[in-house]
Amino acid sequence: MLCERVGEKMNRMKKTRLIVANWKMNPVTFTEAKKIVEATKRAASRARGVSVVVCPPAIYLAALRKGSRAMAFGVQDIGAHEAGAFTGEISAEMARNSGATVAIVGHSERRRLGESNAVVAKKVAAALAAKLTPILCIGENIRDAGGDYLSVVRAQIMEGLAEVSTPLVPKVIIAYEPVWAIGKKAGDAILPADLHEMSIFIKKVIAERIDRAKALNVTILYGGSVEPENAHALLTSGDVDGFLVGHTSLDTTEFPLVIKAAAS
Ligand code: PGA
Repeated sequence: MLCERVGEKMNRMKKTRLIVANWKMNPVTFTEAKKIVEATKRAASRARGVSVVVCPPAIYLAALRKGSRAMAFGVQDIGAHEAGAFTGEISAEMARNSGATVAIVGHSERRRLGESNAVVAKKVAAALAAKLTPILCIGENIRDAGGDYLSVVRAQIMEGLAEVSTPLVPKVIIAYEPVWAIGKKAGDAILPADLHEMSIFIKKVIAERIDRAKALNVTILYGGSVEPENAHALLTSGDVDGFLVGHTSLDTTEFPLVIKAAAS
């Protein structure tokens, strides 16, 4: 039920913060996964004004969900097709039927394996068609002094949203994850002031697709070396609605502190 509400809540109550855990290909055992989810659940149920979504490896999803009503669940990727001969793929509808309410798409670690903006666009559309909230990941590999990274980000947004009809654009969550900041320490993350600038840029680009007021209201997350040390500053000065958290989301001491930092 809470899962059902997450998307709505994020659209209506703009100031509800959203913290999404991206476990990537971790942990190795279900026992360990259960431990992490329990710690996350405790933190999520104490945090006011925060929605927490855990994206474990899909194989753990259905079992982890049981008894975890304080949080919603998602998947880290989906196939672009509805069903059929696509070995190894999981469709948006399967994810939805296993209890996912969100789907991360276009993560840089998938793009590195060859996923193009065109494929990402199909996945965004597939997620929406299955009533999953897509989290569209964007972000440049490097920042060049000439500002070319802005056109990379712009293309990722425009091409990633290419198959979404105008009324559905506000349902897509954008996760800005500069690749140079992923998997490092808090000190390597983006500076809050630079994140603020990027958040304005993202909204401006989205305003090319939908009206400005709606574009200003789109949910934007930041990801890349979010840790307890930088969480508060990034949220308050970075002008984002929450985080997509990688390595820290596996740490049963640190992740609760990130959730706490986002609480009102
Ligand atoms: P990180 O990863 O928090 O470990 O930097 C974020 C991500 O890749 O989603």
